[in-house]
Amino acid sequence: MSTERTFSPGKKNTTPLTERSAYTALVAHFEQASGLQLRDLFAADPQRAEKFSLEAAGLFLDYSKNRITAETVSLLLALARESGLQEHIAAMFAGEKINITENRSVLHVALRSARTDVYVSDGHNVVPEVHDVLDRMAAFASRVRSGEWKGYSGKPIRNVVNIGIGGSDLGPVMAYEALRYYARRDMIFRFVSNVDGTDFAESVHDLLPDETLFIIASKTFTTLETMTNAHTARQWLLAAAKDPAHTAKHFVAVSTNAGEVAAFGIDTANMFGFWDWVGGRYSMDSAIGLSTMLAVGPENFTRLLAGFRAMDTHFRTAPLEHNMPVIMGLLAVWYNNFFGAQTVAVLPYDQYLKRFPAYLQQLTMESNGKSVTLSGERVDYETGPIFWGEPGTNGQHSFYQLIHQGTKLIPCDFIGFAQSLNPLGNHHHLLMANVFAQAEALAFGKTEAQVRLEGTPEWLVPHRTFDGNRPSNVILAQKLTPEILGALVALYEHSVFTQGAIFAIDSFDQWGVELGKVLAKKIAAELAAPDDYTLQHDPSTNALLRRYRQYRQ
Ligand code: F6P
Repeated sequence: MSTERTFSPGKKNTTPLTERSAYTALVAHFEQASGLQLRDLFAADPQRAEKFSLEAAGLFLDYSKNRITAETVSLLLALARESGLQEHIAAMFAGEKINITENRSVLHVALRSARTDVYVSDGHNVVPEVHDVLDRMAAFASRVRSGEWKGYSGKPIRNVVNIGIGGSDLGPVMAYEALRYYARRDMIFRFVSNVDGTDFAESVHDLLPDETLFIIASKTFTTLETMTNAHTARQWLLAAAKDPAHTAKHFVAVSTNAGEVAAFGIDTANMFGFWDWVGGRYSMDSAIGLSTMLAVGPENFTRLLAGFRAMDTHFRTAPLEHNMPVIMGLLAVWYNNFFGAQTVAVLPYDQYLKRFPAYLQQLTMESNGKSVTLSGERVDYETGPIFWGEPGTNGQHSFYQLIHQGTKLIPCDFIGFAQSLNPLGNHHHLLMANVFAQAEALAFGKTEAQVRLEGTPEWLVPHRTFDGNRPSNVILAQKLTPEILGALVALYEHSVFTQGAIFAIDSFDQWGVELGKVLAKKIAAELAAPDDYTLQHDPSTNALLRRYRQYRQ
């Protein structure tokens, strides 16, 4: 890697966030706004729901149940402008190297380009190579799905096991679960990520090797967990297949690193590439999505990309005040930096989106969990919030108590669909009634007077009172289609981008994961060393390692 800093802050605003004039104006505005009550805001303006809602790429966002006024929104938009958000968006789409610490373009938007689009990185249009890989993926997926691609014993592939971690796992597994309705039901899809041998063992225990295809998905092809699982997978296959030549029919790779793929023993003809301008957590629509394509087929994968593209176009072209990812990003900044909210809860009311919160955790927290600015100064303000969540209605029976009556402010994103993919009796109305009821209860609560009117004994009144004034967004779409999933993921990608632009951080590197990896390698060697090997860690780590060795005896 070059030691030169190639990035010139140029158009981006390097004035510390807290010294920008729009920020100062927001601090002053917050003095009154923090006291706003959603009950009063709605009572004062019957048009509030219409005013604070947006539609884009098949998604409808109602953000009226936020602790904002028109002035709040206009000040937040001023902050976005002063922070250079529009220039930053233009720079990303133009392929500028906005990932400054790795000196890379950030062009995941090119992954879902139309064939005629032009996206340039390092002076050349990347679109033809994107489509070349997509075409190769489609041809391969069709051969596997039709049974033309055979395993070593001549049987077609019935099982696909994706081995990857982080962005090479969370996107594929989330998309597989989300689009399961559209997936081949006569094929089994499994996802192995953890270096814990249990993950591999349990994933393959009921699979036949001669019907199993492994996708080794790793941008770098050096990740410890993935490579360990990949070697174990090869042993598992060879225990049955015997002849190493048979691995060719059972292993394909998805990576940017052809050298390591070849060194592992996978023919690069069976490798699907992507590029250093695709961040791991932004890669589910690259070749990393091969398992998704195998599951749902090339046509549905194309529909997924079209949904991403629709949201990209909206993000790039809509005025900031009508721009859904911008508005969501600014609301996140409002709660994070002014109200001091530490977390955001993502609450999808669709069982198919059960891995969506886990997926968003990497997207949001690996992107914006930073504490130095683009110019290397330590921030004196909060950056990315913690994302967490569970599908509704399960969360209602576990952690919603704290959201309703706890001492912490937790802005919530509810996600729901008008039509169920599995319409069964009254289930869907009941499910969606809960979305609307929860958002309503959080916003408006239940006053002491209302509780008393119900005849509640006085001593119980405080316990049964709901303060309300707890903010939420509600995202609605007609039904969970591949297009809608693409639009939803792109919505959060660009909301994260918006927040990163305001925080003036590099949302596309992840140096914070390195130290633990280095130490784990060192310790792994020490665990295999003789007992008299002198440990040179801190006293706590040394004692833990000795205890581990002792238990192993
Ligand atoms: O350790 C974090 C990380 O680098 C993620 O950013 C990435 O998605 C994951 O590891 C997997 O990396 P790779 O695809 O190179 O195996």
